[in-house]
Amino acid sequence: MDKIRIRGGRPLHGSIPISGAKNAALPLMAASLLSDETLTLSNLPQLADIQTMSRLLAQHGVDLHLNGADPASATGGRVLELNASGIDNTTAPYDLVRKMRASVLVLGPLVARHGKAAVSLPGGCAIGTRPVDLHIDGLKALGAEIDLREGYIHASAPNGLTGAHVVFPKVSVGATENMLMAASLAKGETVLLNAAREPEVEDLAACLVAMGAKIEGIGTDRVTIQGVDALHGARHQVVADRIETGTYAMAAAATGGEVELVGGRLDLIEAVGTGLQAAGVELSHTETGFKVSRANGPLTGVDVMTEPFPGFPTDLQAQTMALMTTAEGASMITETIFENRFMHVPELARMGANITVHGASALVRGVPRLTGAPVMATDLRASVSLVIAGLVAEGETVLNRVYHLDRGYERLEQKLAGCGADIERVADDA
Ligand code: UD1
Repeated sequence: MDKIRIRGGRPLHGSIPISGAKNAALPLMAASLLSDETLTLSNLPQLADIQTMSRLLAQHGVDLHLNGADPASATGGRVLELNASGIDNTTAPYDLVRKMRASVLVLGPLVARHGKAAVSLPGGCAIGTRPVDLHIDGLKALGAEIDLREGYIHASAPNGLTGAHVVFPKVSVGATENMLMAASLAKGETVLLNAAREPEVEDLAACLVAMGAKIEGIGTDRVTIQGVDALHGARHQVVADRIETGTYAMAAAATGGEVELVGGRLDLIEAVGTGLQAAGVELSHTETGFKVSRANGPLTGVDVMTEPFPGFPTDLQAQTMALMTTAEGASMITETIFENRFMHVPELARMGANITVHGASALVRGVPRLTGAPVMATDLRASVSLVIAGLVAEGETVLNRVYHLDRGYERLEQKLAGCGADIERVADDA
């Protein structure tokens, strides 16, 4: 298995292209199941999770054609054509679902268009129990019969789904996405209350509208969908990855460098921008994105609490903690979305960080420097937080379990090396 070796201490200088969002691309790909016409997605990132979703859709019978780089894309995103006219299998098997929880996003579209689906329960995951009850309850409200047996969610609606009022007891990105897709083909009106407003949810809704869905209230927590008989083909460009954007912004800030994030959108990470500025980081718009710099003086510790959008994203919590490890003073980082999402703490501590966890909060007391160490992480965002720490640390950091990074960061080493980082991928025995 590959490792990543970083020799820290070099400020990042240059520009980094921001890819299409993984978390938008996955539900968009699942949306292809709703039509027998071709859905063409552009600005698609090249990631392990995209391959897993492609494999899942292919085994359902979706015909996928991956074309080269999108000529209109400044960041080299690819174009994928998906045609689901020949669905011959409505089962999402354990082997694929266990690799990627987002596989559950095929449930809503399959039941809505084919009247049935069997999707493996995703099971536990490194960042908490992450149940799927909201997905199941939502589909039940639309009239699906759901039976949990032998580790699978068996859903059926032989006569189709029917619109309903659904109040989510908790904000869920995935459940909102599943319901948006299912309700698009249900009979009559569905109202989703306390819906997730994440930009990736908005991107999916925009694509569904392009496919002929009737959706109002996009980008708010009350979304109304008038079901239609069929959806047609469409072309859609995947929104920029705000988590990748925030990650590189933190890396630039942590190393005291100056980096332009090409294609990055500050408007999608306003809460993060506010936090970075409070910590002493300068942000300025450019013609093609925005620039992050920290030329003057040390960082100051700031308090951060994760919340559903437009709050501070949980997917940037670990990276923020890495940034705060060498800030002056203390910062309190509180995780409200997932339990057990502090697995990066002991690894950061091995690099010299001073962090104490009290329940859902971590108190980070800034230290003058981190030192490189061999580290490993158990999830995607925790892994990249260790990369940021490695870029700042004195000496060498070797990150194990690189496959986590490959799930969500396209060409990470190249993008960072292009800004002067001393970072390379090495084979396990090197
Ligand atoms: C998505 C993102 C993930 C991000 C998360 C929160 C994708 C592919 N993944 O995950 O990167 O960290 O949003 O922004 O887009 N919950 C329930 N029951 C459910 C569903 C969720 O209790 O049926 C809980 C979860 O355990 C969690 C909270 O709701 O505590 C939010 O989870 P959710 O928004 O659903 O996350 P995902 O869609 O899985």
